[in-house]
Amino acid sequence: MSTVECHASVALYYATRDGQSRRIAEYIASRLAEAGTAAAAQDSALAQIAPMDMAKDLATDLATELAGASVVVLVAAVRYGRHLPEADRLLAVYQSLDTPPPLALASVNLTARKPLKTTVAGNAYLRKLIARHCLAPAVATAFAGRLDYRRYRFTDRQIIRFIMLLTRGPTDPNTCIEYTSWQAVDEFVARIIELTRRPQSVSDDQARRENNVS
Ligand SMILES: Cc1cc2nc3c(=O)[nH]c(=O)nc-3n(C[C@H](O)[C@H](O)[C@H](O)COP(=O)(O)O)c2cc1C
Repeated sequence: MSTVECHASVALYYATRDGQSRRIAEYIASRLAEAGTAAAAQDSALAQIAPMDMAKDLATDLATELAGASVVVLVAAVRYGRHLPEADRLLAVYQSLDTPPPLALASVNLTARKPLKTTVAGNAYLRKLIARHCLAPAVATAFAGRLDYRRYRFTDRQIIRFIMLLTRGPTDPNTCIEYTSWQAVDEFVARIIELTRRPQSVSDDQARRENNVS
């Protein structure tokens, strides 16, 4: 099958409450830029602050942006057992595409501070997210997030301390630890770069044009 040259574009989104997923997405953007691929880290929650009558247009814009990308990247935080709702929303739009580009998915949570919990097989949040949206990500991983008790509201702090007690993590209410392995993020970036360099087949290109995707 013949191939065509194509300029890689990465649609890079994050879903965050306390900022660690945004930090990771911005780091990914900076490493991609160093490799010659410009990609701005975008907050997937922005579509949710739109008034209801604008929501449909925003979903269409999002679908157009996702469909036109060479690779879609989502970095999404977990809170109380689930990924943030804006991550679900973005994945629903992604999944509705006729020819979705390859997906690189990263879940951010504290369970992933344990080495065996960074893979799809080992991380239940990641596994459930993939199953719920019937995804076939080209890359999927879980990054350990940040534990910062002083940021949390009283009830959240007590609940997270209790979870940490059960899972042998720190319970001192002054604890502030960034567990994220930036080396693991670098490896994730390397996989994204590989995906952007994958030749696009003429039939893929044809399918995109038939779907009015530039
Ligand atoms: C209220 C709250 C609930 C959380 N629930 C979970 C959880 O169910 N499982 C988990 O592994 N980590 C949990 N975490 C840890 C977060 O996933 C972690 O702090 C991550 O860095 C948050 O990402 P963000 O800074 O992008 O919001 C929780 C944190 C908070 C504050």
